[in-house]
Amino acid sequence: MSLLNIFALLIQHAVMCGIFAYYTYNVKKDLKQVLDNLFNGLKRLEYRGYDSAGIAVDAVDPLMSLSAADGSILEENGTSSPLIVKEVGKVSQLEKLTTETIAKHHLELDRLFQNQVGIAHTRWATHGIPSVVNSHPHISDPSAQFTVVHNGIITNYKMLKDFLLKQGEQFTSDTDTEVIPKLCRFVYDRLSEKVPFPKLVMEVMKKLEGAYAVLVKSVHYPGELVACKRGSPMILGVRENTSGQRQTSFKQLHEAGDKKWRDEAIECWVASDASAVVEHTKRVIVLEDNDVLHLASGGYGIYNTEQHDVEEAVPRVLLTLQMEVEQIMKGGYEHYMQKEIHEQPESLLQTMSGRVKFQRQAVGNPYLSPRIKLGGFAESAHTIKTSRRLMFIACGTSYHACLASRQTLEELCDMPVVLELASDLLDRRCPIFRDDACVFVSQSGETADTLMALEYAKDRGALCVGITNTVGSAISRLTHCGMHLNAGYEIGVASTKAYTSMIVSITMMALQLSEDSIGKREKRDQIIDELGQLPGKVRSALMLDEMMMQLALQLKEEHSLMFFARGRNYATALEAALKAKEVALIHSEGILAGEMKHGPLALVDEKLPIIVIATKDGMHKKMDSVIQQLLARAAKLLIVCNEGDEVMTAYEKQGCQLIKVPETVDALQPVINIIPLQLLSYHLTIIRGHNVDQPRNLAKAVTTSEEH
Ligand code: AGP
Repeated sequence: MSLLNIFALLIQHAVMCGIFAYYTYNVKKDLKQVLDNLFNGLKRLEYRGYDSAGIAVDAVDPLMSLSAADGSILEENGTSSPLIVKEVGKVSQLEKLTTETIAKHHLELDRLFQNQVGIAHTRWATHGIPSVVNSHPHISDPSAQFTVVHNGIITNYKMLKDFLLKQGEQFTSDTDTEVIPKLCRFVYDRLSEKVPFPKLVMEVMKKLEGAYAVLVKSVHYPGELVACKRGSPMILGVRENTSGQRQTSFKQLHEAGDKKWRDEAIECWVASDASAVVEHTKRVIVLEDNDVLHLASGGYGIYNTEQHDVEEAVPRVLLTLQMEVEQIMKGGYEHYMQKEIHEQPESLLQTMSGRVKFQRQAVGNPYLSPRIKLGGFAESAHTIKTSRRLMFIACGTSYHACLASRQTLEELCDMPVVLELASDLLDRRCPIFRDDACVFVSQSGETADTLMALEYAKDRGALCVGITNTVGSAISRLTHCGMHLNAGYEIGVASTKAYTSMIVSITMMALQLSEDSIGKREKRDQIIDELGQLPGKVRSALMLDEMMMQLALQLKEEHSLMFFARGRNYATALEAALKAKEVALIHSEGILAGEMKHGPLALVDEKLPIIVIATKDGMHKKMDSVIQQLLARAAKLLIVCNEGDEVMTAYEKQGCQLIKVPETVDALQPVINIIPLQLLSYHLTIIRGHNVDQPRNLAKAVTTSEEH
């Protein structure tokens, strides 16, 4: 089976969920604080999937018996099953059910714990409908000897399930995950003597195929947590109130038991991504494939199943997160999408920071001090420039960013630029050659189709370039070279600031690749000058917020929206339509105006709301004629045009509404033109009562794909 097929199998079922754990040793926390930690962690990860959620916590301190005031033992330490609560829908519904469950079990929220192992999960269902029984955590048996949450997919779960069924096991859910806790117990029951917890999980990992990040807790190993990963992301956050590393070795940790660390204290968070950890600590370890993390007795050990001696701890760097909590907070905005739209002047500056010399060089040879510096392309620039063709491969909004930048690449680099939707490229098994340069553009860096197209291109020897917004993501790790957008964390499922930063990034790439072209110098300088003005012009386009809110009120009952444009702004029309679809849930279409007479014009009448993008560029004249043809069909038009454009202003007399945006060079105009249309979709979503940040049926990164 070729690498591609193995990869396809792996990804085919990858589920995009969020997993989270909270581990304490010798840290006094009451049940409420423990639960709040878990719920907050899940809320930070909810953009990864929000069909159902669940938690499992120790109801009794795993390392200290619960004693009554008179000292009599109420409950022996650690043996009691964890409190497990699962609910369909958002984390807020799980919180509500947890409060009810705690009351029902006569547990007190102020019950104190010195030690706690809590695990949690938020799900995006692809395997088994969104239901309580399919929600995580999954358990090995009614007394929950082993409890598991999982992100990813076990591709051989059917085989494992059949085997366990033959052993008399019973399954309650339709998920693949349930085989993991059942296997843990299967292995545990057949041990001749008790082995350290990570050893047991390593045994289970040997049987699992697929991509996964798993958290396991067990009544047989009270006060311990094991996490393991292969393919799916996982990060460990550590807060120690003692100096020095608490990383330890297999032997040391398991022999120490709780003697050695009794007087020390540690709090740890394990999560699918940093957004759920940063508010607690910036000291993190990014776990690598086949890593097994063990938290116990106030210490942590990391092992790797690919190691010769799996019991030898592997060195993993304790990093300091370069991100601020503010980045994942709403910062006073009501929604992440709203925040991320309004952040664009700053995110665009971040994307250009250290990469653009805004000032023209007054004296000396301009060729000696380039105005664009993209370190990630330095070594590959020549190969890219001399490649057979430049292929941009992406999905959704990222594809639109490539479309908005294609003409600039063609103009400056004089190269054939091909755009491919990743899924279609794979469906066609499009020919790719060794001398092709393939550029993979992705906000998350984890989109399955784009990743598979990357593997497909690598298999064929092409140079693979990555442009992504997520440091450490699969696409940034698997490509030969590339750049990060540095647009900051994008949490709203509807991509906004990543889109504008992608257009600027690809434009900077074109500027760098064409730096030695004398004939292009003037155009390059014009674009670079305008890059310096761009954040300011975007800021003034954001002033249209109120007008877009009014327009949304006007359009709130509409069932369809059409966007007409040509040239670079065809991408703006497609992107505006996509935003209206995915968040405002309005059927919307972006139309290449040049195609209108070949069909779409039939739809035009006085009822259909039409937005025409007619800012000043090489298409202005043609768009003017498009407007006249639409008006000839009694269309009611909204025209996105540049401030002071008299040709367009004249249409106000014919009842057209103008959305006036600042003018810039044609290569960057799509960055400005999308701003009011992002705002329009945002306000339409609010006014139509839909969920802005977590639109139905969608997730921030689509890590599932149909088998190719
Ligand atoms: C955009 O708002 C959507 N969330 C979606 O189209 C997205 O652009 C697409 O899934 C690609 O995601 P990526 O950039 O993370 O690869």
